[in-house]
Amino acid sequence: TTISTPTMSDPHKPPNPSTLDPIESAKRKAAFRAVEEHFNSSMRFVGIGSGSTIVYGVEAIAAHLKAHPPPQPYQNWFVPTGWNSRKVIEAAGLLPIAFDSLPGDAMLEVCFDGADEVDEELNCIKGGGACLFQEKLVACRSKKFVCIADYRKDQKRLCTKWKTVPIEVAPIAHASVLRELKLIGSPDAALREHALAKTGPIQTDQSFYIIDAPFKQLLTSMDDGVWDVDSLAKRIKSINGVLEVGLFHGMNGYQTQKAGLQGGQKPV
Ligand code: 5RP
Repeated sequence: TTISTPTMSDPHKPPNPSTLDPIESAKRKAAFRAVEEHFNSSMRFVGIGSGSTIVYGVEAIAAHLKAHPPPQPYQNWFVPTGWNSRKVIEAAGLLPIAFDSLPGDAMLEVCFDGADEVDEELNCIKGGGACLFQEKLVACRSKKFVCIADYRKDQKRLCTKWKTVPIEVAPIAHASVLRELKLIGSPDAALREHALAKTGPIQTDQSFYIIDAPFKQLLTSMDDGVWDVDSLAKRIKSINGVLEVGLFHGMNGYQTQKAGLQGGQKPV
């Protein structure tokens, strides 16, 4: 059997389900469960996150719409969180609408996204794919944020397996942001570079840079000088030159749902 993942051939389209390895199957199972529980055909505006898991989320949404068509055509619009996310929406035959083209007072019914790590209070680390700014923008305009996370992402505290906090910064300020991160306990914070050829810092859809800042496990409440999620997110966001931080916490009081964590089986 050939093993395929969304990163092979066309990364914007889901691979054949019969060829998935156990991790990809877990991601797909989590995505279908999340969509089954939190999507319906009459939703007008729906946010679509970034990463490899959301490809299965979009597959599940397209399947749902095929089985349960909306009452009128063009009822459902999908708000991408970056260039790749838009391609995934288009590849599934769904209709994208840019965040800045949304009608003034329109809220999104729901935003589906992946995560790098999720803690027991449903705080997330995001930004492994460098899309955190638009992801947070869209999530915060959604009535509900549904994070599709397979069993590997589920941790008691953040910075357990995923050791760093992604931070999007203005290129001109990256050195001063690195200096300040050092002062608040992350001396090994570093600019993210292209993985294969070290051809310089990667650039986001905003043409900004990403800094990955290692921190010790984040607590869910303040304890003896160790950072908790909320305080660290606010502290990093306060540094001049920081556009956004990949800690998704509280989500402005909107409901956060962690879906599908039981969706997959551990690979043997
Ligand atoms: C991109 C993200 C992704 O949602 C996160 O990295 C998870 O990706 P994947 O589904 O590929 O594991 O935040 O910035």
